[in-house]
Amino acid sequence: MKHRTRRILLITIGAVAGVLGLGLGAILTVGGIFVPATYLQPWTATYYQQSTDARMQVVAHAILAPSGHNMQPWNVVLDEADASVLDLYADPSRLTPAVDPDARQTMVSQGAFLAYLRIAAEELGYSASFELFPDGSYDETNLEKSMSQQPVARVTLAKDSSVATDDYSSLFLSDTNRAPYTAAPLTVAQTDALTALAEGSAASLSILSDQQDMIALGAFAVEGTLIETQYRAATAESAAVFHGTEQAKNEARSGFAVEGQGTTGVKKYLLQGLLTVFPALNDDAAGARNAIALTEAGVDHTAAYGLVSTPSNTRSEQVEAGILYARISLHARTLGLVMQPLSQVLQEYPTMAVPYAAIHDAYAPDGQTIQMLLRIGTPTTEFPVSMRRDVTSLLRTP
Ligand SMILES: Cc1cc2nc3c(=O)[nH]c(=O)nc-3n(C[C@H](O)[C@H](O)[C@H](O)COP(=O)(O)O)c2cc1C
Repeated sequence: MKHRTRRILLITIGAVAGVLGLGLGAILTVGGIFVPATYLQPWTATYYQQSTDARMQVVAHAILAPSGHNMQPWNVVLDEADASVLDLYADPSRLTPAVDPDARQTMVSQGAFLAYLRIAAEELGYSASFELFPDGSYDETNLEKSMSQQPVARVTLAKDSSVATDDYSSLFLSDTNRAPYTAAPLTVAQTDALTALAEGSAASLSILSDQQDMIALGAFAVEGTLIETQYRAATAESAAVFHGTEQAKNEARSGFAVEGQGTTGVKKYLLQGLLTVFPALNDDAAGARNAIALTEAGVDHTAAYGLVSTPSNTRSEQVEAGILYARISLHARTLGLVMQPLSQVLQEYPTMAVPYAAIHDAYAPDGQTIQMLLRIGTPTTEFPVSMRRDVTSLLRTP
C-alpha cells in the first residue's frame, strides 16, 4: 500500500513537472528563443564591410546612434555626381507627434546620427564636414513635406589621416543605460573632459551635481514621467512602437522592446512569451507603474545631471544639440560612464507646460532652450543593445 501511494505521488509530481516544463518551453518558444535576432546585426564590428562605398560604411555605423523612441528617423541620399557627398534627411514617416509635437527631438536625433557618423569616418581615415540645412530651413507650415524635400545636412567625407578618435569602440556599446548608477561622483577630470566637448559647439553643456540641483532635477524627471504616463496619446504612441516578440522585432527593427528596461538572456524570452500570452501584463497601468518606478530608481542613483542647451530653438540648434549630446554620450562611455536622457519634462504638449516652464525658469537663463536633460554616472550593470534597422533601408533615391 505504502509503495502504491509513493508511486502515485511520483507519477503526479512527474506529470506536474512535465506540464510545467512543456508550458515553460511553449512560453520561451512564443517569446522567440529559437529566432535569430537579425535586428542586432548592425552592432557587429564587421557589419559596415558589406559595402565598399565609404559613405555607406559610415552610415552603417551612424545607424547605431540613439534616437527618440528609437525611431531611427533617418534617410540618406548618396550624391550621384560626387562619391564623397551624402545628404541626410529626417524621415517624416517616423515621427512621434504625441511626445514630440514640434519634431524637436527628431532633429536632436539627426544630430546624434551625424556625431556617430563623424566618429566612424575618423576611424576609417576621413574627416566628415557637415553643412546644416544646405538648401534652407524647413517650411514650418508644411513640415512633413518639407522634411522629405530639404536635407538636414550635407555630409562631405575627405581623406584625412591626421584625424583620430578615442571613441570608436564606444559606438558599439549600448547608448542608453536606464539602470541605477553607483554612488561614485564624477571626477573633476571626467567632468572637464565632457564639458570640453562643448567648445566650439552652438550648444552648451552644464554638468550639475550640487545637492540642491540633484533634488530639483530629479523631481522634474519624476514629475515629467508622472504627467506623461497620464497622457493617453503618449502612452498609445509608445505602445504602438513596442515590439514584444523576436519575430516582431525582426520585422520592425526600431521602437521599444523589453531590452529597454534591461531585460536580457532567458528572462527576455520568458517575459516576451508571457507578454504575448497574457497581454494584460503590459497594459497602461502596468506600463505607468514600470515607468515611474524606473525613473524613481534612476534619479535616486545618479551621480550628476547634464543639461544640453541652445541660445534659442532653431532647427540648426536642435541638430547641433544632438551632435553634442551624442559626442558626450560616446565619450562618457570611453571614460567608463553611462547616461540616460530624461526628456519628458522638456516635451511641448499642453499638460507638460507648467514643469516645462519651471525647468526653463530655473535652468535656462536668457531665453535658452534646454534640448536634453541627462542623468550621468558609473554603471552598475551593462545594458543590452537595442534594435537597429538594416542600413540599406535608410537609402532613398534623389
Ligand atoms: C532626443 C532623444 C530623447 C530621448 N529621450 C529619452 C527619455 O526620455 N528616456 C529614456 O530612457 N531614453 C531616451 N532616449 C534614448 C532612446 O530611447 C534610445 O536612444 C533608443 O531607445 C535606442 O536605444 P539605445 O540608446 O539604448 O541604443 C532619447 C534619445 C534621444 C535621441
